Amino acid sequence: MSGGGGGSPAAPSPALSGRGARIAGAAPGLLDEGFALYLADPFDRERNPEGVLNLGTSENTLCFDLIEERVSAAAAAAAYGYLIPAPYYGGINSKTWLYGELQPVHVPLFSEVRFWLFVYFCEVMFWLFGIRVRALILINPHNPLGDIYPAQLLKECLDFAHRYELHVIMDEIYMLSVYDDITFTSVLSLESLPDPERTHFMWGFSKDFGMCGIRVGVLHTTNHEIQKAVNQLAVFHSCPGPVQHVLSQFLKDRDWMDNVFFPTNKKRLKEAQKLLVDGLADIGVPVLKSSGGLYVWADFRKFLKSQTFEAELKLWQKLLDKKLLISPGKAFCCYEPGWFRLVFSNSVDKIYLCIKRLEEVLHTNDAEPVPNNASSLTKHSEQDHYLSLLLK
Ligand SMILES: Cc1ncc(COP(=O)(O)O)c(C=O)c1O
Repeated sequence: MSGGGGGSPAAPSPALSGRGARIAGAAPGLLDEGFALYLADPFDRERNPEGVLNLGTSENTLCFDLIEERVSAAAAAAAYGYLIPAPYYGGINSKTWLYGELQPVHVPLFSEVRFWLFVYFCEVMFWLFGIRVRALILINPHNPLGDIYPAQLLKECLDFAHRYELHVIMDEIYMLSVYDDITFTSVLSLESLPDPERTHFMWGFSKDFGMCGIRVGVLHTTNHEIQKAVNQLAVFHSCPGPVQHVLSQFLKDRDWMDNVFFPTNKKRLKEAQKLLVDGLADIGVPVLKSSGGLYVWADFRKFLKSQTFEAELKLWQKLLDKKLLISPGKAFCCYEPGWFRLVFSNSVDKIYLCIKRLEEVLHTNDAEPVPNNASSLTKHSEQDHYLSLLLK
C-alpha cells in the first residue's frame, strides 16, 4: 500500500490541470480572432447589411441551394488519475487515456454487497492510491449494472468530490432508458451543487434514441475554462450543421416524445428485460435487479470450472463457439470472475434464441457447478467489511 492519495490541501487549487490549462489557454490564431469577430456580427443581406462580410473562410456557398434540397430530403498529464467504481463501461479506459493520458483508479464493487457503491469505498481508494486522483467518473444509470444512484448517494458522492477538489463527470447516457418505476435523479436536476465548477454532465443520442450512428453527444459544464479546452480538442469532432438541424427539429416535437416515444420505449424495454430475466431464471442464471440501461448483469459463477478469470474467458469462448456473443465481466474490469452482461434491447425471437444457445452450452458444460453466494445479493452497509473484501 502506498501513502495518501492527496488529502485536503489548505488553499483551493485551480479547477484545471496544467495540461488542461495549457489547452484552454492556447492563444487563438489570427484566423480564429477574425472568425470570432464575424460570429459576433455576421453580415446578412436583409437583417444585418452592415455586418462583417466573411470572405475569409474557405467554404463553397455556390451550391448551397442544391445541397440543402438534397440533404433535407434525406437527413491532465500521465500521472493523473480518476476514481471509477468497477465494473464499468470499458470504453472509458481507452478514451480517457487517448485524450488525457489518465489512469483509472478502480473502486472495486463486490457481489456480497450487491455491487453497491458506498462513498466510503471511494474514500478508501483515494487514500490508498499514490497517483494523483483528480476526478470521479460515475455512470448513471450504471453500465453494466443497470443500477440507478439514489439522490442521497449522488449528493454524498458530490460532497466527497468537493472535499478533495475532484472533478465529477456524470455519464448519464442512459438517463432516458429507465424502465422501472423508480425516480431517476439527474445531476442537472439537483437544486444546488457543492462544486458547480467541477461538476460536468455528459449525454448522447446513441442509447436513449437508438441513434448510435449519429455520433452526437452533449457535454454540459458551467466551467468556461473547460469549455474552452474541450472546444480546442473538438475541432475535428464538430457536429455537422445539417445533423444539428435535423436533431433540433426532432427534439422540438415534445408532444410526440412525451406521449408516444418515451412511454413506448419504456414499455418495450421493460417487456424485453423481463423476457430475458425470466428466460435466464429458467436455465438457472440469476441476475442483479436492474432499473435502467439496455442490459442485465448476470451471475454465471456456478457454471465456471474454477472461480478465475481464465475460467470466465473459457466459458465466453464456448458461448462464442455456439455463436452467442455476450460480454464477460473482465471487459468491465470486474473484480469477481463469473459475471456477464447481456443486452436485452432486441427482438423477442433473438432473446429466445439467446436463451436456447445459452442452455445448450451451460447444460453440456463439463464444469462441476461450484456453489456461489448468489443468495447474498442483498444490500447491506457493513462498510468495514469492504476492507476485508479488498484485502481478500
Ligand atoms: C456508459 C457509456 N458511456 C458512453 C458510451 C459511448 O456511447 P457512444 O460512443 O455510442 O455515444 C457508452 C456506449 O456503450 C456507454 O455505455
